[in-house]
Amino acid sequence: MSISNELQSQAGTEKTLAAAFPQNFLWGAATASYQIEGAVREDGRGMSIWDTFAATPGKVFQGDNGAIAANHYHTMAEDVTLMAELGLGAYRFSLAWSRILPDGRGAVNSRGLDFYDRLVDALLAKGIQPFATLYHWDMPQKLEDEGGWLKRATAYAFADYAEIVAKRLGDRVVGWITQNEPWCIAYLGYGIGIHAPGLRDRQGAVNAGHHVMLAHGLALPRIRAQVMPATKVGITLNFSPVYPADERPETQRDLALADAFGNRWFTEPLFRGHYPEHLFASLGLHAPAIEDGDMALISAPIDFLGVNIYSRTVVRGLETMPLADACQSVAPIPGACYTEMGWEIFPQCVSDLLVWLHQEYAVPALYITENGAAFVDQWHGNGQVSDPRRVSYLRDHVQALANALAQGVPLQGYFVWSLMDNFEWAEGYGKRFGIVYIDYPTQQRIIKESGHWYANFITVYHQTHSSGL
Ligand code: FCB
Repeated sequence: MSISNELQSQAGTEKTLAAAFPQNFLWGAATASYQIEGAVREDGRGMSIWDTFAATPGKVFQGDNGAIAANHYHTMAEDVTLMAELGLGAYRFSLAWSRILPDGRGAVNSRGLDFYDRLVDALLAKGIQPFATLYHWDMPQKLEDEGGWLKRATAYAFADYAEIVAKRLGDRVVGWITQNEPWCIAYLGYGIGIHAPGLRDRQGAVNAGHHVMLAHGLALPRIRAQVMPATKVGITLNFSPVYPADERPETQRDLALADAFGNRWFTEPLFRGHYPEHLFASLGLHAPAIEDGDMALISAPIDFLGVNIYSRTVVRGLETMPLADACQSVAPIPGACYTEMGWEIFPQCVSDLLVWLHQEYAVPALYITENGAAFVDQWHGNGQVSDPRRVSYLRDHVQALANALAQGVPLQGYFVWSLMDNFEWAEGYGKRFGIVYIDYPTQQRIIKESGHWYANFITVYHQTHSSGL
């Protein structure tokens, strides 16, 4: 095939793929405050647990921290222009609680709120819908000093904070996400300590998880009371769908354990009002302290579920029953491809997951709030960054969304993780997820090939839909 024929047929397939998405499907990208903002000591921001954690030797790759990050606090206007260039219809960002309430509760720092107010206005001026996440892991250090998510009181402090933000931005923010990934907050932060605050207390993780969900439940009505009727309020969970490595009964048993631990721990309380049966016993732990009314708050209807999905888990049963967080996963899987995070590339898990959520819980609306890949990207000082593996990753995952839509899943949008390279938590700046490259020494932004692919795909999507195809 000649090059021009190849390009033509590629354009043809993009058209077919784009046509598989409904009108008003949102194409977006996501970031989080601590990962991109920098400016950690500016305009009255209080310290967060990630400042503390990153300053603790041995916790983050090469001792990296978010002090400067992608300097977004100072380049916000430029970054919004870049989003418009990419043709994004929506942008998911998070707010740093400690910019708004430096001590986590009490006096409001209006300069912190002003920043997000300007961001929201800048987005709307470019026709980009703002999706705000209230908690993406940067707990005010002051609250952590009082126990953080181990304490029930933190859930109440969160609901107050949510109301303060919603009061200020509720007339313009289109989608609200209370919590980002309760599983990671609880288990990685309090259970095994690879994320802030770095505690190793598995029972603490179970208790923290409950308080994170309670915070969500308490915040829901407080947010709704401040926002426009059409505004959507939800929560984002992370998933790793489980698949069996073989047909042994032990594998079926461990698969169920791994699923309860990795996926249902938070979907069951959210949609059914109770934690998965036997989950805590199978972790060798006690259930958290649940007070009257907690589960009703937690399972109050949400407008959408945000889904973060990157990969799957393949479980191989052990001879004797393991603890639910010690099931054996197969890695590497022969013949499989992996990203730099060591996460298998398996797009089908996205459609499988979406169909499962739809069938199992009849979720009213779904957004993929994060999906993307880390690869080694190199910039040679010109206008280009070639990342063909990310282009394929995104394209194949978008195809998986189309497959889910064809099966009736009420999917309404997709946010690529991430708009730009950023501070990848314990991995520091060692992992790049952006569709925009950040040259950290100069803070220059270069749209990667994947960014150009996404922009082109969004254009094709709009063309396809405006021509009524
Ligand atoms: C998710 C986080 C996000 C990012 C991606 C790679 O768990 O929500 O901030 O780090 O992983």
